[in-house]
Amino acid sequence: MTAHIDEKLLLAAAFAARKRAYAPYSNYHVGAALLTEEGKVFQGCNIENAAYSVSLCAERVAIFKAASEGHRRFRALAVVTENGGAPCGPCRQVMREFAPDLVILIADVEGRVRRTTLAELFPDAFGPDQLA
Ligand code: THU
Repeated sequence: MTAHIDEKLLLAAAFAARKRAYAPYSNYHVGAALLTEEGKVFQGCNIENAAYSVSLCAERVAIFKAASEGHRRFRALAVVTENGGAPCGPCRQVMREFAPDLVILIADVEGRVRRTTLAELFPDAFGPDQLA
């Protein structure tokens, strides 16, 4: 049974996180909020760097914050961008590691929401089972 996901709360957390984005180079601000199986929410924003390639996406900031605090079971992730852009490939791979059944909400700044899943965005993914 899948418990109810409080989409409003998760999206609000992602919107709030987006306000803390550090994106002086791209000026593309991204906020994320990750819901764990236990109902805890971890926020993330993109954090860029003058050495561009070491910048980190909002989704991975949220996932790594959660994992580093002992949470590896996730139910849903909300992402907010200016134009409703979908998570990048490397972020999808990181999601796959811990949450192949992740529900993903993608919103734009107007509040339009697209509901999808990691399985839909990232089919036939390489995962931990391939190394078993
Ligand atoms: N970015 C994210 O934070 N998440 C994504 O899924 C796509 C891209 C960030 C990376 C960079 O700071 C900026 O958006 C432009 O690519």
